[in-house]
Amino acid sequence: MKTLAVVALKGGSGKTTVATHLALAAHRRGLDTLLVDTDPQFSARDILGAREDPGPACVESSGRNLLAAQFAALAERRDLLIIDTAAGAVEAVSEAVVVADFVLLVARPTLIDLSGLARSLMLVRRLGKPSAVVVNQAPVARENVEAPLVKRAMKGLDYMKADVAPVVLRSRAIYQVALERGRSAEESSDRHAAREIAALWDYVAATIGLKSGAPEA
Ligand SMILES: Nc1ncnc2c1ncn2[C@@H]1O[C@H](COP(=O)(O)OP(=O)(O)OP(=O)(O)O)[C@@H](O)[C@H]1O
Ligand SMILES: [Mg+2]
Repeated sequence: MKTLAVVALKGGSGKTTVATHLALAAHRRGLDTLLVDTDPQFSARDILGAREDPGPACVESSGRNLLAAQFAALAERRDLLIIDTAAGAVEAVSEAVVVADFVLLVARPTLIDLSGLARSLMLVRRLGKPSAVVVNQAPVARENVEAPLVKRAMKGLDYMKADVAPVVLRSRAIYQVALERGRSAEESSDRHAAREIAALWDYVAATIGLKSGAPEA
């Protein structure tokens, strides 16, 4: 079993959107997936609870009970455990990072998010965990030219010597609408969003060493 923590100390950067989409992506590719929601807002639990079709399992946990949740998932022979974390909760986030094989940091391409990211990156590095950043809610590139905001963010990430996922999630309404019913943007008719999520999944799966099948039709 592999454990992935989705982290950003900055609020609203897209942790829950990314964590639930990755859990749905893994489930749709045949992996037995558990999402552990450690945010007292329990948004991930509510999102997956709204799903009508079969989907990934979801449990609530505090940071300090994470190890017990991980052992339970191991005993249940799960393939993947994804931890959604709360903003600003340094202790609980640290507990998630400690039990994770890999940490996916989420940041919007704004100065305020990148400043927050520096703190998250410090925490992850101090705990010696491999990590990568996925840039979320970026403006759509026009005629394949990135907005200056995104170019500047990429430069900032380069200064921080952060590994960066080879896919940028754009600001798209489908990411908001699909999750209202516990569905992934991959299950929508928005081919651009579907491609972004598939590419993010492929990157994460290859990075943490998970083999998965083709997604469900
Ligand atoms: N790529 C995107 N395009 C459009 N909207 C997005 C995108 N990613 C996230 N959002 C929206 O931004 C808001 C914050 O996203 P989300 O809840 O995933 O962030 P979070 O980091 O989990 O927040 P919190 O810190 O409160 O837990 C939500 O309304 C979500 O629908
Ligand atoms: Mg959240």
